[in-house]
Amino acid sequence: MTDTTLKPLLVVEDNPGLQKQLKWAFDGYQIYIASERVSAIELLKQHKTPVVTLDLGLPPDPTNASEGLATLDEILAIAPHTKVIVVTGNDDKQNALKAISLGAYDFYQKPIEPEMLSLIVNRAYSLYELEEENRLLASQSSSSGLDGIYGTSPKMLAACHMVEKVGPSEATTLVIGESGTGKELIARALHQLNPRAKKSFIALNCAAIPDNLLESELFGYEKGAFTGAVKQTPGRIEVANGGTIFLDEIGDMPMPLQAKMLRFLQERVIERIGGRETIAVDVRIICATHRNLRQLIEDNLFREDLYYRISEITIEAPPLRDREGDKLLLAQIFLDKFSQKNGRSFRGFTDSARAEINNYAWPGNVRELENKIKRSVVLADGKRISSEDLGFAENIKPLSLNLREARENAERQIIQRALEIYDNNVTHASEAMGISRPSLYKLVKKLGMPEPGKL
Ligand SMILES: Nc1ncnc2c1ncn2[C@@H]1O[C@H](COP(=O)(O)OP(=O)(O)OP(=O)(O)O)[C@@H](O)[C@H]1O
Ligand SMILES: [Mg+2]
Repeated sequence: MTDTTLKPLLVVEDNPGLQKQLKWAFDGYQIYIASERVSAIELLKQHKTPVVTLDLGLPPDPTNASEGLATLDEILAIAPHTKVIVVTGNDDKQNALKAISLGAYDFYQKPIEPEMLSLIVNRAYSLYELEEENRLLASQSSSSGLDGIYGTSPKMLAACHMVEKVGPSEATTLVIGESGTGKELIARALHQLNPRAKKSFIALNCAAIPDNLLESELFGYEKGAFTGAVKQTPGRIEVANGGTIFLDEIGDMPMPLQAKMLRFLQERVIERIGGRETIAVDVRIICATHRNLRQLIEDNLFREDLYYRISEITIEAPPLRDREGDKLLLAQIFLDKFSQKNGRSFRGFTDSARAEINNYAWPGNVRELENKIKRSVVLADGKRISSEDLGFAENIKPLSLNLREARENAERQIIQRALEIYDNNVTHASEAMGISRPSLYKLVKKLGMPEPGKL
């Protein structure tokens, strides 16, 4: 019978005499006994025992530790935080050490003295409980209090504090920050905190839509307004009525449309293309950009009056490299998330991987970190994620002495790298490389590389 006030303990032991002895040895524990690997794993899954004592000599060949070590490996793969105490023959130090290197918590050599063993088990249990409590605290304190936004660095906490203050208001808000810093995440959080949260959040990426289509996307059109306008179609602003419209990459909006946008911001009415009716729309407006709008204003590419309208409040998503402590925190959160999704289990990162994560400049910010970890979870063979798994060890090196070949190889690698960092976003990748989008496409074609997006 199961007594839920007792602590669960799994004993894996094939010797019936010892099984009996152990059953009596542990006061205050609910003991589950398995004599071989399959039933041990089953009991572990069923009762989630924090502590396991594991005899290394298990059938089919109890004189050999291989089945015991395999069982240890399986236990830790399923439940990496479990404290496993291996029990070995009295002259089997070699296997005891091997078990520790595989991740066992401690070892105990036969013959069994129940008092001694129960002391070790009690200590393992206390440690497990302490660690569990820490894990819980860490997971609570790592969240900023906003849905899906994690961070404990002062810069991130300051940004989140702004979001909490501005979210419930009607202020037109501009979210700035480098590529992949979480601008869209912040925009969604602002919407979630607003009474409009029950209504829709409509996002439109001004950089992703060709200039000539952007106007009709935003404002909609009447039937027959232009060739192809076969039926009356409301624009995104109109669809967002009552909710929030998120204009992403507002810095890429063409000048003529900026004038129309300014009018909408001032008067809060729209006219569909080809229509005469003015339609009042009640929306909260949030804009975002990774560009320097002041520079664009200076270069006459962005209207200053529009800038003041959209930036009643500005929130900056800080670059990942400036968020002390957040890099490893986010790495661990993404590792947990993708491990779970892929049915895999890792014991964290190797020391060198942790150092690389901390020291790398992260030009593609959180998105780059997320992508690197997503990939490593699929590819990694070891128990911990290494720097190689994260792709840190791949240096760009010339593969040929022929100057033209060497240059083309370097170009190929750099393009690949930039597209990887910016998640195949050609605009961001070409900007980082200091060339225009068309030049990047031309180069890709010249080098015989697959078209970006299909890499
Ligand atoms: N603080 C954070 N906590 C957890 N996940 C985050 C955080 N910041 C960003 N992310 C994740 O990183 C990815 C990129 O975020 P998001 O799309 O919001 O960035 P962005 O600034 O809009 O990027 P871009 O400029 O490329 O459009 C998303 O998958 C997002 O969930
Ligand atoms: Mg974005």
